[in-house]
Amino acid sequence: MNLTHRPRRLRQDRVRGLVSETSLEPADLIAPVFVDATTDERVPIESMPGHERVPIDESVARVEEVLETGVGAVMLFGIPESKDPEGTRAWAEDGVVQEAARRISADTDAYIITDVCLCEYTDHGHCGPLEEALRGEAGYEGCPHDPTLTVDNDASLEALDRIAVSHAEAGADMIAPSGMMDGMVAAIREGLDRKGFEHVPIMSYAAKYESAFYGPFRDAADGAPAFGNRRHYQMDPANAREAMREVRLDAEQGADVLMVKPALPYLDIVRDLRREFDHPIAAYNVSGEYAMLHAAAEKGWLDLEAVALESLLSIKRAGADLILTYFAEDVAKRL
Ligand code: PBG
Repeated sequence: MNLTHRPRRLRQDRVRGLVSETSLEPADLIAPVFVDATTDERVPIESMPGHERVPIDESVARVEEVLETGVGAVMLFGIPESKDPEGTRAWAEDGVVQEAARRISADTDAYIITDVCLCEYTDHGHCGPLEEALRGEAGYEGCPHDPTLTVDNDASLEALDRIAVSHAEAGADMIAPSGMMDGMVAAIREGLDRKGFEHVPIMSYAAKYESAFYGPFRDAADGAPAFGNRRHYQMDPANAREAMREVRLDAEQGADVLMVKPALPYLDIVRDLRREFDHPIAAYNVSGEYAMLHAAAEKGWLDLEAVALESLLSIKRAGADLILTYFAEDVAKRL
């Protein structure tokens, strides 16, 4: 057959690398690390095989393990020793993330990103202090306990400002607010600048969806809402145009890096952001995306290494520059 176009010519082993459009580097990956103030030994996270909550004393050792693989940065999450309605342990100078960041920044040259949110620190598990909802305002519909409560947006902003400053003071290199409060980037930018942290970038969880894929993380970080859901602050999975509006607001408020979360079910949003913004785009390959591949691999239904690589490559192909992923260390070792 005399075919002019034979795309298979470029799929031969010796040339496919030359024409490959996307590459994955360890330096593009960010590894989440869970530091737990309630334990003095490492505790495996059952729904996230290979991951553990580590005590503060082990945080440096844990980060050194990550660094050895060439991963670009770590993202710290904290499990505090106690919780209250306001989440006050989130901005304590001797809080769990502050302690860990202080030690990690003193002993390693890891690039430290800290998650800034209140859900691990409030006793009700919501991402900010609660207030009475106004009639007609979104409250916890269907919640048997208190249908009239909602997260107090502006009181949360004050807390987020304090948390971000306390993290920067402890040695955080980058601040990543994940609470989806209106105005959170502006509040944090102002707080950081006021204290002389103009050089600390903000990576905003800008388009964060109200997703069932966060399930394993909520076990890991003990941050599940005690009642209701996060529907009136996190985004509706049905909406894509709204993501552009959300993200534009964060960009206007000075976000340096824009994140989409989760990643795989939302690659259209990653692609839309890539086309619309010049900022670095991050995508969070979340706990549920990790857990489901592990579960299938455990049954012998999928080849874990292959699907992990393919997932991360696809997230980059869609337009992400950075990927937060629980596969970071395993994949980085293979690259
Ligand atoms: C909130 C936060 C969550 C995740 C990261 N930051 C949970 C949530 O919004 O309920 C989820 C990450 C994952 O599932 O891997 N502080």
